[in-house]
Amino acid sequence: MKHRLLVALVVLVLVPFAIAFQGRGTPSTPAPPAPPAANTSSSTSLHTLGQQRGIDIGAAVQLYPFQKDANYRSLLAREFNLLVPENAFKFAYVHPTPEGYDFSGVDPLMAFAKDHNMKVRGHPLIWHEQLPTWLDEGEFTRDELLEIMHKHIQTVVGRYRGQVSAWDVVSEALNRDGSLRDTVWLRTIGPEYIDLAYRWAHEADPQAKLFYGDYANEERGRKPDAMYHLVANLRQRGVPLDGVSLQAHRWLDAPPNPEALVENMTRHKKLGLEVHFTEVDVQIQRGTGSLEKRLAMQADAYATILKSCLIVKNCTAFVTWGVTDRYSWIVGLTGKQDAPLIFDESYRPKPAYYALKQVLSSEF
Ligand code: XIL
Repeated sequence: MKHRLLVALVVLVLVPFAIAFQGRGTPSTPAPPAPPAANTSSSTSLHTLGQQRGIDIGAAVQLYPFQKDANYRSLLAREFNLLVPENAFKFAYVHPTPEGYDFSGVDPLMAFAKDHNMKVRGHPLIWHEQLPTWLDEGEFTRDELLEIMHKHIQTVVGRYRGQVSAWDVVSEALNRDGSLRDTVWLRTIGPEYIDLAYRWAHEADPQAKLFYGDYANEERGRKPDAMYHLVANLRQRGVPLDGVSLQAHRWLDAPPNPEALVENMTRHKKLGLEVHFTEVDVQIQRGTGSLEKRLAMQADAYATILKSCLIVKNCTAFVTWGVTDRYSWIVGLTGKQDAPLIFDESYRPKPAYYALKQVLSSEF
């Protein structure tokens, strides 16, 4: 009897302690594998609910936890039906030397997606960040850079032809004031680099849907307007473009505005474009009030974005920028601990997860 009491006491006191201290690690200081995720298998998964409403539910996937942590992989497969390599497709990783490609980061993710009936979103093909030094610092002529861009797109898109449902072909080409960003692509090739990227991506995989993606483009203002004009112009000239990607990195002190979201998505719908929310996360570090209150506000922000996506029928994907708070890019970006995603550091569903489910199960 005494012995049983002792065991019960140890379980009651030590287990919650152990759970509380799990997962202090960040991507730069890898944490030990997390415990199995809380059992939510009795309820319907997020992606099942999403698919019933005609939208894919996705997550950006980091290679480190993907390779090291079986619980990360099972959570990914259970709750999401759209996989986005968070970094593996980026130029610096996939094309590290002028003549050399490296698909060792992408291939295992593609295989996993195939095994688990998940779609894959390719991100990004032509961007100004995470470029290899040989490209960023190489002094190429216009023709040389055109050749590099063409071969890159042919090789990367061509290799996964038929396996990537949508590509962010050009990413973040605009400044906040709406002008074209000064990048190696614009400087060396001129604004035509945008048209050409889409035409070459379409040639390499005619089935893949081609998107233009940016940040701070979800609502109203100069940048959303500039994006609208950019994509309207591409469509008008017959450039193969199927949709726009709204990143939606948000903070509690700038909550999403549902009317503005719907209005912006609706005008893109009228152009015949789809919309994907592609990098949703909601930082809580700048919020006020108790953790509980901030997590509730975070849940509201997630719900507002998803609800606007469901209202506007051309919104076909909702992707969170990461799977769990244990591995979010926000810590690296801000240098501060945060909890921007829908599963906590121990892989337990947060209020935001339940809020998304609630939205997916509601009639409106
Ligand atoms: C971020 C990744 O999450 C980080 O791991 C990496 O160190 C830097 O890039 N907008 C984008 C994404 O389009 O590709 C970025 O991803 C986040 C901002």
